[in-house]
Amino acid sequence: MKRDNPIIHIDNVDHVYPNNTSALKNISLRINQGELVAIMGQNGAGKTTLIRTLNGLIRPTKGSIYIKGEKNSDKSIADLSKIIGIIFQNPMHQLFSNTIEEELKFSMKNLGYNKEQIQHEVDNFLNKFNLAKYRDRSPFNLSGGEAKKLALATIICREPEIIVFDEPTLGQDAKEIDFFLSLIQNELNKGKTIIMVTHNIEFVFENIPRTILMAEGQIIADGPTEKVLTNDFLVRKASLILPQIHQLKLGLKEIGIEVPNEIFKEQDMISFIDNYLKAKLANR
Ligand SMILES: Nc1ncnc2c1ncn2[C@@H]1O[C@H](COP(=O)(O)OP(=O)(O)OP(=O)(O)O)[C@@H](O)[C@H]1O
Ligand SMILES: [Mg+2]
Repeated sequence: MKRDNPIIHIDNVDHVYPNNTSALKNISLRINQGELVAIMGQNGAGKTTLIRTLNGLIRPTKGSIYIKGEKNSDKSIADLSKIIGIIFQNPMHQLFSNTIEEELKFSMKNLGYNKEQIQHEVDNFLNKFNLAKYRDRSPFNLSGGEAKKLALATIICREPEIIVFDEPTLGQDAKEIDFFLSLIQNELNKGKTIIMVTHNIEFVFENIPRTILMAEGQIIADGPTEKVLTNDFLVRKASLILPQIHQLKLGLKEIGIEVPNEIFKEQDMISFIDNYLKAKLANR
């Protein structure tokens, strides 16, 4: 899809909750097909409210949203949910079946598969997500991290074109974060568009090319992550702390060590420092 034809176009959207909380103010935003975007900002900034407007769970009190060029106010939540899959902050809100296997089977209904195909796909997902051993267990007896994975599987198996995650790395251990990373890479390779709401600045700095910062219902920055998340003023305004790798770069600069711009991943930084020290020792 071309730049002038975004898959998501949010045009001047406001949302005021019935209790008069003004959660979104003048939000305008375009996201192209195949993009990977982070939305960050303080608690209560309006991030969850914003993503809920995408599939019609929240209808803006002002402004319009276009998904693939079509106004979403003309569409039902059910129709929008076929295009946009949201994995919520609290996975328990989207799980309801008696067993994990049933939960996945339910998600795969109405996709045009026959019984055998559904069973095949369900087995596939249970194995891929390492949940096969729990297939007969209630989703409510999973650990927080496992429930998050199941919620993720129930959305991904429906192949939505746009996938939205609310705090996917919260409470996940390092192995699960790696699994999540390879999963989003796989979805991106299929041409999916991915939006991730998160407070995990280190994860975003290393892995997500574009960042939208929100504060008090407004977008205060939207651009390349390496620019947005190294801007001390903006990062503070969004109640975040500068990424550690960037802080380390600043510290090294102060003592005369210039780290090249393209180094922003922990592993690359370790190699850089390692090589620097080796070169120093060799020159003694
Ligand atoms: N159902 C609701 N009714 C009234 N006000 C609400 C409702 N949901 C959220 N709000 C308010 O709207 C504002 C934005 O909330 P939202 O949940 O979108 O924030 P958030 O950026 O997702 O925060 P967090 O990082 O804590 O998840 C907050 O002031 C919140 O108190
Ligand atoms: Mg939220």
